[in-house]
Amino acid sequence: MSSEVSVSGGETIDRISENIYGHFAEHLGRCIYGGIWVGDDNRVETNDGIRMDTVELLRDLEMPVLRWPGGCFADDYHWEDGVGPRDERPRRRNLWWTQGRENVPEESNQFGTDEFLRLCQLLETDPYIAVNVGSSTPQEALDWIEYCNYDGDTELADRRRENGQEEPYGVKYWGIGNENWGCGGRFAPDEYADEYRRFANYFNGFDNLMNAESTEFIACGHLTDDWNRVFFENLNGGMEFGPGTFLGMGSPFNLLDHFSVHRYYQAGGDVDFSDDQYYKMFARAEKIAGDIDRAAETISDFVPKDEIGIIVDEWGAWHPEAKNDNGLEQENTVRDAVATAGVLDLIHDRADVVSMANIAQTVNVLQCLVQTDEEDAWRTPTFRVFELYENHVGQTALETSVDTDVESFEAEDHDVPMVSASASKGDGELFVTASNRRHDEAETITVDAGTEATVESATVLFDGKDIREYSTKDNAESFASSDLSVDDEGDGAVTFDAPPASVVGLTLSE
Ligand code: AHR
Repeated sequence: MSSEVSVSGGETIDRISENIYGHFAEHLGRCIYGGIWVGDDNRVETNDGIRMDTVELLRDLEMPVLRWPGGCFADDYHWEDGVGPRDERPRRRNLWWTQGRENVPEESNQFGTDEFLRLCQLLETDPYIAVNVGSSTPQEALDWIEYCNYDGDTELADRRRENGQEEPYGVKYWGIGNENWGCGGRFAPDEYADEYRRFANYFNGFDNLMNAESTEFIACGHLTDDWNRVFFENLNGGMEFGPGTFLGMGSPFNLLDHFSVHRYYQAGGDVDFSDDQYYKMFARAEKIAGDIDRAAETISDFVPKDEIGIIVDEWGAWHPEAKNDNGLEQENTVRDAVATAGVLDLIHDRADVVSMANIAQTVNVLQCLVQTDEEDAWRTPTFRVFELYENHVGQTALETSVDTDVESFEAEDHDVPMVSASASKGDGELFVTASNRRHDEAETITVDAGTEATVESATVLFDGKDIREYSTKDNAESFASSDLSVDDEGDGAVTFDAPPASVVGLTLSE
């Protein structure tokens, strides 16, 4: 079987933001407690409670941004429970999720704001904090931003200093709630628009008047276009009486920098799936393209498209095995990783509208990139795809077309192309990623770079692996990439055989 990937004459889309390779970590199962935070447990090396084996692995990914503390947890979280001396912090119920190694629905508050921001410092990543809208007030949110970002002489800024952080943290990304149509308060879209305007108004006032750091605010969208449209229509509500004529308040649309959508997908079980289900998961992952396109279209009816970025701040495979009582844990297989490559390709194609994406979740939970037990931490197959795709970061996405066979399924909104690909360029270098989704056959892929270019390197993931294989602490290294032999035909044409269910990264120099 053969396919052709054409990088069409260097037509550019936009810069691929590093934030597309973002992460999400929630107080859920063993993501934070056990996976990131082990406190006094000295079975692994820690930085005052933060496990360093996890940090070391994540450092390899140069994680750009980390969203925290939820998820559904965010709209039930009161940040002051999690600051100050750890032995004085209250233990609370965790309304939505089981927790940590004991898998109890309780929150110890041992990992709070300062621990999270220390983790971000260790990872050199930008923090993204989602505040509580559903069960709290703008006052609590405003206090939180003051604690984190204020440099003056106030009780909250002093409290941060007492807790060990002299300089403001400068947290840039602030999410106003999470899934506020669901666990985050079950707001109707017009109600959430009111809440959003109210919360963001105070955040914006803080940003304008109290602090030199620039902050960006994120509203929660829905997968249905109707919900999103009503939200945007109502965001401007009441403004017929004037948009606020002092302090340069301007339109409420100025209060919104990013608009988020979430998408999870599954077909069959994590390792127990039929051939049809194997392919159907790709069709379902492909829905992310429609989610982004519909949100972009709605936004463009209200503001110019580059004024509000789209964030996919939760995405990934969520298999039926991941349930609340096991802390949403599942096996993460080669199938999941190959599907990830396709999602990243379609996000690159939309680099002009997507400002961030955060895979769910970083450690142990859902489609994690790192897994841990009491003493070890290791990479999942999905980690390998993020690592291979790193060369795209910061480059300019190029229009790419793929001529390949397609599988269609009744009742699925999307067909499944057998090959997915994307391309980007920067600094005289062209980077092409291509995945062969066929699980039973190699695919001969010809890349037409559309420019004079010669091959610098070619690597492949999952050569010889089964689609149901997942990583354990003993076999994790066997998922590492290996060199791929390619035929450089000259004039920017390169041909190679992509093994079944594999992902290829090809670097060419111009
Ligand atoms: O990631 C698990 C949960 O999925 C999050 O808490 C919630 O936002 C989403 O529904």
